[in-house]
Amino acid sequence: MSQAVDSISVPSPADFHVHLRQGEMSALVTPHVASGGMDLAYVMPNLAPPLTNAKQTVDYVHSLEKLAPGTEFCGTMYLCPELTPDEIRRAAKAHIAGVKSYPRGVTTNSDGGIENYEVYYPVFAAMEETNMVLNLHGEVPSDAEEGVCVLNAEPRFLGHLKKIHSQFPKLRIVLEHATTRAAVECVRSCGDTVACSITPHHLDLIVDDWAGKPINFCKPVAKYPDDRAALREVIREGHPRFFLGSDSAPHPLANKYPSTTSRGSADALVHDCGCAAGIYTQPILLPLCATLLESFGALDNLGKYVSENGRAFYQRPARPGREVVLRRAIGDESKVPSVYVHPSHAHKSEEDPTKLEVVPFYAGKQLAWVIA
Ligand code: DOR
Ligand code: ZN
Repeated sequence: MSQAVDSISVPSPADFHVHLRQGEMSALVTPHVASGGMDLAYVMPNLAPPLTNAKQTVDYVHSLEKLAPGTEFCGTMYLCPELTPDEIRRAAKAHIAGVKSYPRGVTTNSDGGIENYEVYYPVFAAMEETNMVLNLHGEVPSDAEEGVCVLNAEPRFLGHLKKIHSQFPKLRIVLEHATTRAAVECVRSCGDTVACSITPHHLDLIVDDWAGKPINFCKPVAKYPDDRAALREVIREGHPRFFLGSDSAPHPLANKYPSTTSRGSADALVHDCGCAAGIYTQPILLPLCATLLESFGALDNLGKYVSENGRAFYQRPARPGREVVLRRAIGDESKVPSVYVHPSHAHKSEEDPTKLEVVPFYAGKQLAWVIA
């Protein structure tokens, strides 16, 4: 494929890392999986409370299927002490695809996250035996005494990945949303059972783009220009163990830009987290991926990035007849909406902090591609 093409067909695009939430937020965002061009969503379990057993995850997947009947959903469970090897075997029988591990306190709803991986070795052994996937949020918690902060939390995590891989070489592991050259090199050096998801926003952003700009703030934070270059290189190369996981993570606007009116007092702002971590890309995902890959000379690998590589690793073949065609955008037609509002909140004023509205990545900007 050359840069001059004006139409691209992708077989059954799949997003292997999605946050679809609960309640009204879920009703707003779940249909956006399909409108953003994806046929499959691999769904994260960090709800409030998190999904910690097979039954909760199966029920959650059913609730999503009701909201978007044409989309294929893969459910996951949250790694925590409740999750025993027996529960893993039950989950595997119920076709639950994986288990997500969050280190304690590093991101949204991770207060119940883990501190020590070795206590979970019996769980990992059961996962290896039942062919389930371990999804790792690859950051260690910040610790000033140890010199750990958001900029080096991912490189500091990589020893855990290496160790789990060496103990369980047949366990399929995905290092989620890699942001550093160190992470890319680490995954490259592992065996075929270790893969890596890369978000479109981390292919685009560096530190300067989120410092002082809450809408671009997510975990892990975007890093240095050389780190972004490493992410782009591995996608341009089409390496088979690197693929799309959008980490699309919607938060109400009032939580991204908390004001003294919405949070009650300036005091509360100082003591609470100032800004929720998460970037919302779901409704624009496939056109966004095409636009970004084209910008750094990787458009030829769009199909590998958004479908083939992830599907091969997860052993989820493309559904026949589900290709999505993109064509070049004309004029204003690819302008990203400034906000998505839940219909039953549309009448509320802009000042009302209970108004359920989500601002997408690239709000108001033009994309180069649209879904035909
Ligand atoms: O930015 C993020 N948002 N990173 C995560 O790991 C979680 C996510 C969320 O759930 O909001
Ligand atoms: Zn995530």
